[in-house]
Amino acid sequence: MVQERQCQGKGACWTLRLWSAALISMLLLSTCFIASCVEKMWGCCPNHWKSFGSSCYLISTKENFWSTSEQNCVQMGAHLVVINTEAEQNFITQQLNESLSYFLGLSDPQGNGKWQWVDDTPFSQNIRFWHPHEPNLPEERCVSIVYWNPSKWGWNDVFCDSKHNSICEMKKIYL
Ligand code: BGC
Ligand code: CA
Repeated sequence: MVQERQCQGKGACWTLRLWSAALISMLLLSTCFIASCVEKMWGCCPNHWKSFGSSCYLISTKENFWSTSEQNCVQMGAHLVVINTEAEQNFITQQLNESLSYFLGLSDPQGNGKWQWVDDTPFSQNIRFWHPHEPNLPEERCVSIVYWNPSKWGWNDVFCDSKHNSICEMKKIYL
């Protein structure tokens, strides 16, 4: 009653305005929340690709040179895999065959120890899973992941023109 009377006046009805603003903000926020939930639920991967986090992975057991392997990934809208976390490396290695080796999206084009991820992710001090005594040769400018005892899965620098299997990664598709 009091409010109604205030609103009928000439002056601005601040209480009503504030409540309207609050309501609109709440509506906008909940719309964003629902939209982001739907987006997360509908992130999906193509057939045969494995889902982990916000990415999809394809394990290829066709042996190729590093650059051919990368080109094959690019043709599918992907790249050779970029490993950003230990959890990601652990997920990937669960899918691999222990008797094979697989190219990663990591190379040292000049052979001077400046390792580069294919998507320009900085080569972090904390995210390096080299096998003991690797990398061991400046002429080996590409990286494969391989299972060796006793260190299990780890990285080895290899010749870029040697043939390995490979792993492609793409961001999930959001419908
Ligand atoms: C591989 C090298 C590796 C070495 C380790 C060789 O067969 O070609 O990349 O560093 O084994 O012993
Ligand atoms: Ca090596």
